[in-house]
Order: sequence, then structure tokens, then C-alpha cells
Amino acid sequence: MLGHFVSGAMLCLLASASVFVPRAAPGVDESFGLYAYGDSVGGLSLFYADGKAFVGNASNSTSSSAIPVSFKRSSSSSPSQWIANPNTTTTTNTTYRWSDEMLYIPSSSSSSHQVGFTSKAESNETTTGFIFYGQWVMVETESGDISSSFYVKASSEGEGVYSLLWNVTDDDTAIPISLRSVKPSNS
Ligand SMILES: *[C@@H]1O[C@H](CO)[C@@H](O)[C@H](O)[C@H]1NC(C)=O
Ligand SMILES: *[C@@H]1O[C@H](CO)[C@@H](O)[C@H](O)[C@H]1NC(C)=O
Ligand SMILES: *[C@@H]1O[C@H](CO)[C@@H](O)[C@H](O)[C@H]1NC(C)=O
Ligand SMILES: *[C@@H]1O[C@H](CO)[C@@H](O)[C@H](O)[C@H]1NC(C)=O
Ligand SMILES: *[C@@H]1O[C@H](CO)[C@@H](O)[C@H](O)[C@H]1NC(C)=O
Ligand SMILES: *[C@@H]1O[C@H](CO)[C@@H](O)[C@H](O)[C@H]1NC(C)=O
Repeated sequence: MLGHFVSGAMLCLLASASVFVPRAAPGVDESFGLYAYGDSVGGLSLFYADGKAFVGNASNSTSSSAIPVSFKRSSSSSPSQWIANPNTTTTTNTTYRWSDEMLYIPSSSSSSHQVGFTSKAESNETTTGFIFYGQWVMVETESGDISSSFYVKASSEGEGVYSLLWNVTDDDTAIPISLRSVKPSNS
């Protein structure tokens, strides 16, 4: 199934990804954070704000609900979903109004590119197909195609804060990134 790639960029990504393959993906009941790597984006952590996914320092977000996210791969659903909860290690404020939300990417029927979180997925939101290739996040479609088409784009919601986007084809200001479960080595 690794034979079907959507783009040349994907091939480059996989070529360099092979360097990381010996490092294991998080296990099924293990919590993990996700970090964005790309040009001028050196391992920014994924956080939640108002149901949407951002990367950067959550403390810099203007949203009062901004909080880093801790993920688990659910073993109870098939195909598997990725379940998000607030990572409260970084804050003393434990008043968050959500728990156990599913990570989603917009479906191809959606006009949005924003990646987010939901407790009940609409048909325009895909909550399944997230897989690890080593420590790299990929998405597998029902037909078996595997791709990683994540982007970030500077957000007005805080300094150094980027929106996490999927499958952006029409915006030169979006930066292609890879999402990995490995923390930057300087943190
Ligand atoms: C939660 O946040 C702490 C502090 O930043 C970090 O060390 C830890 O790895 C995070 N845990 C997860 C599961 O992301
Ligand atoms: C995030 O920002 C806060 C406040 O600006 C700062 O105290 C903290 O060290 C920053 N964290 C990281 C990981 O840069
Ligand atoms: C704690 O977080 C909640 C939810 O985001 C927010 O409404 C509240 O103002 C925060 N409290 C403090 C003391 O920061
Ligand atoms: C999906 O549709 C709902 C209802 O129209 C809308 O609120 C939501 O923003 C849409 N999500 C995406 C990812 O397009
Ligand atoms: C967070 O904001 C401060 C100033 O408000 C800035 O110095 C710092 O670089 C920002 N953090 C990130 C990760 O961009
Ligand atoms: C990306 O969007 C295009 C339409 O703009 C769609 O045809 C394609 O299936 C999407 N690819 C993925 C991997 O979502």
C-alpha cells in the first residue's frame, strides 16, 4: 500500500522519513504530543484553541481555551481514531470544558482546510485513518492511499502561533510541515 503516493513532496518526505523508522511509534495506550517540523518551524507543539488545532506556544495564544494537547490512539474503535485531551502538565488552570475529543482533518467535501477537534464528527470531518510511519503522522484513506499533507499558516491569534491546516493547494503563505510525535531536542 506504500505504492500509492499523492505527490512528489510526499516521496521526499518518505525518503527522509526512513532515517527515523527505527524509532518506534507511540504504543496503543501511550499518551503522546505532536510537534510540527518544517521550514522555520522547528518542532512547535500542537495545541487546542476553540475546537481548532494550532501549533506554537499555547501561552502566546489570545484564546482563553488554548491548551497543549495529549493524544491517545483509541483501541476501541476500528478504524482507529486519535483521542485528544488537554495536557494540563503545563498549567495550574485545570478548568477546561472538553475531554476525549477526536482529531479531524476536513474531508475532501469540505471547503475548509482547518484541522480540529470534535466530539461528534460531521460528514465533512474525517476522524479516521491517522497512522504513524515511525514517528511521523500520515493519513490513510479508505482506498489505502497514504499521504501527509499538513501545513501551517501564521495566525493572528498570537505571536508565533500558526493554524494547523490540511491539503492546502491554493495559498503560497502556507508552509508544508511534517507532524511527528518526537519533541524538539532543545526542549
Ligand atoms: C505534556 O506537557 C509536558 C510539559 O510540556 C510535556 O513534557 C509532556 O511530554 C506532555 N505530554 C504529552 C503526552 O504530550
Ligand atoms: C511560552 O511562553 C511563555 C510566556 O510567554 C513562556 O514563559 C514559556 O517559557 C514559553 N514556552 C516555551 C516552550 O517556549
Ligand atoms: C482557566 O481556564 C478557563 C477555560 O479556558 C478560563 O475560562 C479561565 O479564565 C481560566 N482561569 C484562569 C485563572 O486563568
Ligand atoms: C462541517 O459542517 C458544519 C455544519 O455545516 C460546520 O459547522 C463545520 O465547520 C464544517 N467543518 C468543516 C471541517 O468543514
Ligand atoms: C511568545 O511571545 C513572546 C512575546 O510576547 C515572544 O517573545 C516569543 O517569541 C513568543 N513565543 C513563540 C514561541 O513565538
Ligand atoms: C486535496 O484537495 C483536492 C481538491 O482541492 C482533492 O481532490 C484531494 O482529494 C485532496 N487530497 C487529500 C489527500 O485530502
